[in-house]
Amino acid sequence: MTSRALTSRAVTVRAPAKINLELRVGAPRADGFHELATVFQAISLADDVTVRATGGSIDEPIQVTLDSDFAHLDGDPSAGDDGRTGAVPLDETNLVVRAVRLLAERTGVGEGVAIHIRKRIPVAGGMAGGSADGAAALLAADQLWHSGSSRDQLRALAAELGSDVPFPLLGGTAVGTGRGEQLTPALCRGSYTWVIATSGRGLATPSVFAETDRLRAGRVLPVPRVGPELMAALRSGNAVAVGARLANDLQPAACSLRPDLERTLEVGRESEALGGLVSGSGPTVAFLVRDAEHALDVRAALEAAEVADQVITVTGPVHGARVIEEFARG
Ligand code: C5P
Repeated sequence: MTSRALTSRAVTVRAPAKINLELRVGAPRADGFHELATVFQAISLADDVTVRATGGSIDEPIQVTLDSDFAHLDGDPSAGDDGRTGAVPLDETNLVVRAVRLLAERTGVGEGVAIHIRKRIPVAGGMAGGSADGAAALLAADQLWHSGSSRDQLRALAAELGSDVPFPLLGGTAVGTGRGEQLTPALCRGSYTWVIATSGRGLATPSVFAETDRLRAGRVLPVPRVGPELMAALRSGNAVAVGARLANDLQPAACSLRPDLERTLEVGRESEALGGLVSGSGPTVAFLVRDAEHALDVRAALEAAEVADQVITVTGPVHGARVIEEFARG
């Protein structure tokens, strides 16, 4: 028997943010997406998504709640005329809702759910925070409903939700091709320490791709591919060589839209980071550092220069999305 009063089942999944160690972007395709080749690394900054059975029907609206580490997202989650908290929509457009609706549709599940997001990944920061939430919701709903989908099936659903959604399911270090959704795990030795400089104002991914096209108009673009040097550096665990090979074709556009990012990158160079780059479509900037002590120096320099909203030290690679809590009663 199922009743609203008695049912209390929930699954919480933690899914990591990513940085792109190399991002090569080709020409726009007929479908509007860009062919790309990238190296993703999952980092120790993650969101937790809880999917809870309501006892109702999946046809009812899905309630989304949020709590976060970011001052500008805190307060009344229902605040805002447009139903948004900061840049996070709490309505049916949120990737977590689209994820559970897609799984329900494909598996024929009719049970209603509510979703809670514990957000630590900067919003609209180029670290695939929304995509991590979508991946986490997919895995949590699969577990809650015992849908028994394979990782490959979940990855295919994730690719339908967005180019960056499959990677947080996989985690580790991986090469992404196509529009970023086709993944091949990469050999990567050792652990890398990153200092992440976030920005209070986000950048919209489509506008950064559009600006990239504008800046490169008239140029013949090669088929995007990841350089063998970076892959060799990752295989040998040589952080200095990895730092020297960090590259992002979206960086000129991100800096064109946000000229202040040039100064952030400069502060990293001045404090002898092994390398630094805008992460994905930005505006987050990631610096590879030697170790935890060097991270303190880079952090201090970024904080003194007042170029970042928040400075976070993380490590990578970490594993992909996984269940961290399951609760069942009734
Ligand atoms: O796949 P996703 O919904 O995350 O992509 C968001 C937007 O980013 C797309 O609408 C497109 O403008 C841009 N994009 C792109 N090429 C890619 C990935 C994303 O142009 N490979």
